[in-house]
Amino acid sequence: MTNALTPGCNTELIVALDFSDAQKADALLAELEGLPVIYKVGLELFLQAGPEWVKHWINKGRRVFLDLKFHDIPNTVAKACVQASRMGVEMLTLHTVGGRQMIDRIQEELANEAAKGHQKPKLLGVTVLTSFDDLGWSEVAQATGVESPSARHSVEGLVAKASEWGLDGIVCSPWEVSWVAENYPNLLSIVPGIRLDQKVVGDDQARTMTPKLAAERGASAIVVGRPIILAEHPRNTALRILGDLKC
Ligand code: C5P
Repeated sequence: MTNALTPGCNTELIVALDFSDAQKADALLAELEGLPVIYKVGLELFLQAGPEWVKHWINKGRRVFLDLKFHDIPNTVAKACVQASRMGVEMLTLHTVGGRQMIDRIQEELANEAAKGHQKPKLLGVTVLTSFDDLGWSEVAQATGVESPSARHSVEGLVAKASEWGLDGIVCSPWEVSWVAENYPNLLSIVPGIRLDQKVVGDDQARTMTPKLAAERGASAIVVGRPIILAEHPRNTALRILGDLKC
């Protein structure tokens, strides 16, 4: 059973705008006009294009997921989330290891903003970055005095906390999504690491899955970057994926 971002919609498509300049992103947004997708803005584009660019597209009706992976002291992150909420972003990411106090403080500030009429963005927790393998992760864990038998062990512990601390969802690999959907049906699962059939040249995503299978496993949304933005016909590729997701 999929926890849906939009009522009545099973698995949605998030297009990662992984561009180094706003003009390229503008071109893709124009090409995908009218399609039911959400656009993910990450660090690179945000630093180049800036908040006014993001607001411009939100004012034109585009749905934006701000993926800046916030992590700082509670007050600092809460104030950043207030700015994101005023910008009108629909979802944002933060590091779950920021802890209960950070999340409580964010919820408090966003409740104040909601009372002023700003829609509360969905809060999505990052657990262990998928770029970590077990060896790399155990080095970090041991340095902080914690024994973690595997990255997956830490992911499971942090997803449990994300649920307990009231986050709306988590970012997870396609290989964790069934486990999340079964154990935490209250959490949205946002799933990168999606590939169509052929491998992307020089691909750094090792554990991938097709859109259809990720949807069947219960993903609330899939995040797709290169398979769309490097495609010869991005609109056709996005339409094909939307067809597989039936949303
Ligand atoms: O090009 P590709 O489809 O691999 O892009 C995936 C997007 O999802 C990128 O923007 C990447 O930063 C993001 N992401 C990821 N793995 C995570 C979290 C985010 O690939 N664990």
